[in-house]
Formats: sequence, C-alpha cells, structure tokens
Amino acid sequence: MNEGERLTELAKRRGFYFPSASAYGGASGFWTYGPQGAALKSNVEDAWRDRYVVKEGHQEISAPTVMPEPVFEASGHLDGFDDMIIECGECGATHRADHVVEDNTDVEEAESLPNEEVMDLIAEHGIECPSCGASLAGEPVENFNLMFETNIGPGSSSPGYLRPETAQGIFVEFPQLSEYARNQLPFGVAQIGKAYRNEISPRKSLVRVREFTQAELEHFVDPEEDEPPLAEVADVTLPLYSAESQQADDGGQRDLTVREAVDEGVVASDWVAYYLGVSKRWYERIGVDMDRFRYRQHLAGERAHYASDCWDAESEVDGDWIEITGFAYRGDYDLSKHAEHSGEDFTVFKQYDEPITVERATVDPDMSYLGPEFGGDAQRVADALEALAERDPSAFDADEVTVEIDGEDYAVPVEQTNFSVDEVTESGEHVRPHVVEPSFGVGRIIYTVLAHAYETDEVDGEERTYLSLPPEQAPTTVGVFPLMDKDGMDDLAREIAGDLRSAGLSVTYDDSGAIGRRYRRQDEVGTPYCVTVDYEALEDDTVTVRERDTTEQKRLPVDGLAETLEQLNTGELTFDDL
Ligand code: GAP
Repeated sequence: MNEGERLTELAKRRGFYFPSASAYGGASGFWTYGPQGAALKSNVEDAWRDRYVVKEGHQEISAPTVMPEPVFEASGHLDGFDDMIIECGECGATHRADHVVEDNTDVEEAESLPNEEVMDLIAEHGIECPSCGASLAGEPVENFNLMFETNIGPGSSSPGYLRPETAQGIFVEFPQLSEYARNQLPFGVAQIGKAYRNEISPRKSLVRVREFTQAELEHFVDPEEDEPPLAEVADVTLPLYSAESQQADDGGQRDLTVREAVDEGVVASDWVAYYLGVSKRWYERIGVDMDRFRYRQHLAGERAHYASDCWDAESEVDGDWIEITGFAYRGDYDLSKHAEHSGEDFTVFKQYDEPITVERATVDPDMSYLGPEFGGDAQRVADALEALAERDPSAFDADEVTVEIDGEDYAVPVEQTNFSVDEVTESGEHVRPHVVEPSFGVGRIIYTVLAHAYETDEVDGEERTYLSLPPEQAPTTVGVFPLMDKDGMDDLAREIAGDLRSAGLSVTYDDSGAIGRRYRRQDEVGTPYCVTVDYEALEDDTVTVRERDTTEQKRLPVDGLAETLEQLNTGELTFDDL
C-alpha cells in the first residue's frame, strides 16, 4: 500500500472519511466525513477562521450555493471554466487529457498546454486508455465545462448553477458588503462553504472530488494606496518554485524570506507575498510538514481566466505535489465584470482630504442626430463617446471622432457630440478595488495533515500506528479510561470525563478491552492525551496521563486536571513542563 492508500484505509476504518451512499453503489467524487473527520474538519475551519477572519479583522459571510445563470455569465465560468477531456473510442470511458499525459510522460503541467499539443503528446507516447488499454492516439481532446447545472423552480426558464467557488457569493454582494465596511478600503470578506465541480475523473479520495469545502478570503484593496503590513511576516522563509525556475533547465526551489521575495521581484504583489508569509505559519500550526511543502507559481497557460498572477501552496504525498491553496491576484476582473453585466455600481467612493479642481472632458451627444444615423446602436455609441472623452480627450481634436463597438467602427462629427472641457471641483473619486484572494481547499488540507501526521513505531514489541496531530487539531483531546470496569474506578472515570467535557474539552470514554488496545485506538485517531483511573486513583485522587507520541506517562492530581489539559491543548504547557 502506498501512503495515500494506507491513509484511506485508516480513514475508513476509524471514521475520518469514506465514500458516500455506498449502499446504493455511491457516486464517484462524493465523500462523507465520519465522526473523527467531521471533528477534524471543524477544528481546521476554526483555526482558519481564527487566523484569516479574527486576527486579520475581516468579515465573514455565508451565501447560497446555488446562483442564477447571469452570475456565471458575468464571472466567465460558463465560457472559461473548462478542463481537457478525452474519450476512449473503444470503451467510451472519459479521462482528463492533461492527467493521462502527466501520468505517462515527464510533462509536469500539461494543463498549461494547448489542446492540440496534448493530443500530439498522447499520440507520440502511444498513451493507452487507463480503463481498457486501447490506444487513445487520434482521439480528440476537447474542453469540458465543470459547472453543475440545475433549474431554479419548476420548468426550465430559470437556469441556475451550483457555485464552483465560494468567491462569487462574495463578489455579487460587493455593493452591500462595501457599505458594511463603511466604504473604507482595504477590507476583507471571508467565507467557508461548499463548492461544486463536475470533475472528469475524481481521484485520490479527498484530493479531487465533485463536492468540497473551500475557505476563501477576498481582500479588497485600493491598488494605488493600500499596502499590506509586510513587516509582520518579513522574516518568514518561503520555499518558492517560480514559473521561471520551472522553465529553466537547472531551476529549482529557492528559499527566500518574504522581504527578499518582494525585493527581488520573485513575488510581484506585496499583498500575495504577505499572505504567503501568514499562511506558511498557519500551515505549520495545523500540522503540515514543512519539509514536504512549497509555493509554486502558475505558468502563464495554467492561470485561471480571472488571475493575473497566482501561486499555489503545494504539499507532497506519495511523491506527488498536491495544490492545497491558490493565492491569486484577481485585479478588478470580477468587480468590473459584475458591474458591466448587472449595471450596478461596484466601486467605492474615496473622499479626498480637500476638494480639488480639475479639468474634465465631457460630451452631450445630440441624440436627434445619433438616433436616425445609428438606429438601435445609438445609445451604445453615446456611451462609447462618453467613455472616450474621459479616457482620451485628444480624440475630439479632429472634425470627426470614431468609436469602436464589438469590432465595428462608428464615425461621428465632433460638433454633434457637444464636446467640452470644463473646470470642476471634485470631493472624491470612485475606485474599483483590486482583489487579493487566498483560496483554501479544506479537504486537501485535511488529507495533507493526516498524511503528514501518520507515524508508525514499536511499542511493547508490537507495531503501533499513530497520528501525530497538533493537539489543537485532534478530533478528540482526551481519552478517559477506567483500568477496570469495577470497584469504583468506572464511577470516578465517568465523573472525570464529565468534568472535562464541562470544561469544554472533547472527550472519549472507553472501558472496552485491554488498556493497551484502548491506547492504540486513541493513537490511531490522534488523541494527544489519555487519562487512566486505576486503584491508586481511588486512594490519592491522582490519575495517569499518557502522551501520545512518546507514550510517556505522568501522575497528576484530579484537581486541576481540566486546566492542565486545556493548557496542553493550547500549547501554553508542554508535557515536559508537567
Ligand atoms: N476562488 C479561487 C479558486 O476556486 P482554485 O484553485 O480553483 O481557486 C481553490 O481552488 C482550492 O480549492 C484549491 O487550491 C484546492 O485546494 C481546492 N479544490 C479545487 N478543486 C477541487 C476538487 N475538485 N476537489 C478538492 N479540492 C479542490
């Protein structure tokens, strides 16, 4: 069994996650988090919320997962959110064309190549269908849109889509959200929720699924003025694998501090660099192994339609690098598109300290001329003239001015535009914020944390498996056991378990089987501490507390046990301190 298979076996056996609806044969790409997994997921989400909402001072919202079609027409997902698909001519199975290339050649990021090149590589390398072994050479590589479609209400007149990213639920509400932020940039809005993608070939359990949880932050900033608090993370070392390094023959990963990465221009945006620094610390906190972690920049052909630059946090499992988070500079792409398609105002009004006087070029086109001349296009011509006057007043210097709409030229005599340049006093300006987006895949982070925590050693001559999870992330904080289910040990153990639960700790009570078996069960789900009530406890009100990784045991008084365990859980105390 490789690392991923070993993990999935443990995950199913111990209740972290398992394929959904298997009683009915299931559907590929859908997984249920069991009791341990749901608790771990909620701990990861709490740690994310603590870092990216509370500590950053951002807001959090919860938007619907189904949204009407115009949202995704505007966002570009209906046109551009595609993966490459190839269908086997023999058995009809469909595959991600870029993945079959990556699995069978040395090509690493086939997603960044044009479809024709991927088709050529498949033919050149004689790649066969992973399902039936027939040759895939000559089969067309096409685009497949990943959106799940549905109908809103009865009938089909109101199509909707399951959101492919939580981000759109934030962008469409920008006008309200901006008000709640008192129209003051910068401000950030976060959301943790489900996203859906009709993946061509789901694989590796939680790594590529069709329904998954994202934790996304959309940070709205004034591109001219706002700067991140870079000093807070300037010394954090980033393992960077830039696009340039990926394309160079001798290129490799470089370890640079945030400050160096910005000064050398390796990371172009200070905001992206800031979040790379913040996130490196956060990944360490939740248990990602920093020797199996890097930041990789997207190659040009790989970037999503909205991103001008993007870095992925990647973790290594089984020798493969998995994208766990994307850090994208989305510019004003999303807000501009939603403004254009909805006609609403997606800007922030920025008040100047003092009003200023400026020269402003305006037009007031004569519609009695434009109407007969351009018919149904007259209003669009008028709007284009207005935009041109603002952008390039010198275009009105000649007798005639030309605007282009959808590739067609419209010439208008300047005198019909009523062009003028006037002095106006302005108290502020409308700014279209830029968006910096750290976007985390919660399932892939859980998969990484579990894979990196998976350890084996030998205890009492037997192999032991344990999950070395940080106490803050562990699904259960304490296992409480009576040594034997008699003589009052059970009563005292139940009383202690109750007290620990009242103090807010997550507790498992276990009185079945030999004590060694009970320790192993807790080790396998990563419980950092186990408390055992034995005969001595009945005499002197002390219990043994065992630490998971070292299996070391110490005797502690029952009085104050909850506080001590809480301090161990938060890292205020270490086991050695006891
Ligand atoms: N809003 C930006 C966005 O959605 P993305 O890189 O497409 O960017 C962000 O997705 C994160 O969501 C990824 O880094 C990954 O962790 C997770 N993710 C994306 N597709 C996934 C899938 N099919 N299964 C599991 N996680 C996925």
